[in-house]
This record gives sequence, structure tokens and C-alpha cells, in this order.
Amino acid sequence: MKKAGGSSFQKRIIVALDTADLIQAKKLVCSLKDVITIFKIGTELFTAHGPKAVETIKSLGGEVFLDLKYHDIPNTVAQSARQAVRLGVFMFNVHIPGGLQMMQEACVAAADEARKLKIPTPKLIGVTLLTSLSQEEVAKQIGIPKPLVDVVLHYAELAQKAGLDGVIASAREIEKIRARFGPKFLIVTPGIRPVWAERGDQERVMTPREALRLGADYLVIGRPITQADEPREAASRIFEEL
Ligand code: C5P
Repeated sequence: MKKAGGSSFQKRIIVALDTADLIQAKKLVCSLKDVITIFKIGTELFTAHGPKAVETIKSLGGEVFLDLKYHDIPNTVAQSARQAVRLGVFMFNVHIPGGLQMMQEACVAAADEARKLKIPTPKLIGVTLLTSLSQEEVAKQIGIPKPLVDVVLHYAELAQKAGLDGVIASAREIEKIRARFGPKFLIVTPGIRPVWAERGDQERVMTPREALRLGADYLVIGRPITQADEPREAASRIFEEL
């Protein structure tokens, strides 16, 4: 399998293994590994199977984005970051509203642990606002009455200041983040829906082609591929559209 980090589309699509069934996850990785390099393990699969899930995907040749979205006091997140590094993941993330100190301590801990283990430091990404949230929900439920894009840009600024490698943001904020934070700041975008796919619970969605055109580095795609009758074909169809 090709390794992550190159420039082809195949290395820029991350498939979300949103299942509690490790056998099912293994089947997906096996059927997709010729076309997909990075697989995302989220809270569902990790809660069910723990580090074994990461080991399994890696043993099949995949790179892992560990999407556990840490959000806790700085010391707890820093120690969790060390454990994420020890799992040998390619990328992991924290929630930006955890604050500057939490993010800074996570960065320092990850770099220190990777140095001790003599392995590359995983990319540390900050979650801005969940792409399932609408403007109205952020205002009325979370109590932030600002335009979503302003909230996201403010969070991205905090993430960059803390030393994170980039952010997770919806496709609608890509252009502004890219313009303000430069070409090296990674933008990871979920809520991706090819024109032929169901939107599901995602609110701020965009097609893969458009998201890459606007400047996303990585696209996270779950259900349009994993729930397809033929995941391999769905992935190929997305690549054709790109
Ligand atoms: O199935 P779908 O393509 O909607 O999956 C999107 C994936 O991206 C899910 O695993 C979800 O947890 C994740 N995600 C997201 N919004 C964020 C961060 C992560 O949808 N802001």
C-alpha cells in the first residue's frame, strides 16, 4: 500500500471507519487499501476495541487518523497525546475550545514522546466546530451568537498560536482559513458528500471536488463510501469525479 504524505488524491481521502465491528472495519480496509491510504478510527471503534483497532489497521498497511477529539484539562490531554504517539498514529486531534494551554501542552508532549521513541511526530489537528452543527444551533444551544465562519477563524487562530499542524473545518470555511493561515496550515474537511450521496446528519456539506479546489489538504469521507453497496466502487467513483 502507498504511504501517506504524497500529493495524489488517494493520499488525501481519509475513510472514516465508523463502526463498532472490527471485522467489518478490516473488511473495509482490505477492500479499499489499493485506493485509500489513511483510515480514521473514531470513538465508536476505539471504545469497542481500543488500541487493538489501531494495531489491526496498521497491520493491514493502513495509516491511522485517531479521531478521539481530546477535550480535558491540559495535563490529561498531554498524557493522552503521549499515548496516541505511542500507538504510532499518523494524525490525532483535540477540541480547540479546550484552550490554548491544553493545545500547547498536547503539542509539546507529542513532540517529546515522538523524539523519545525516535518516530515521526503525528500531525496534531484542532477540531473547530462540528460540521453537523448549523448556525442556529451554535447560536441558540451553544450560546455563540456570531457567524459560524468567524467562530471557526477565531478557533483556527488559537490552534495555530498553540502550534497545532492544522484544523478540522467544514468545506465552507476552507477558503478563508487558507487565505489567513497560509499554505502549510493543514485543513482537514469532513461533511463531504458527492452529488449522488445522502446528506445524513451533516449540515455544512460540499462535494469532494469542490472542497479540494478550495484548498482542503485532507477530506474525511464516511458513509458515502462505507455504507455503499460496493465501497471500493464508491471510492473509485469519487476519484473519477476528482
Ligand atoms: O459519514 P460521514 O462522511 O458524515 O462521516 C464524517 C466523519 O467525520 C465522522 O466520522 C465524524 O465523526 C467526523 N467529523 C465530522 N465533523 C467534525 C469532525 C469529525 O463529521 N467536525
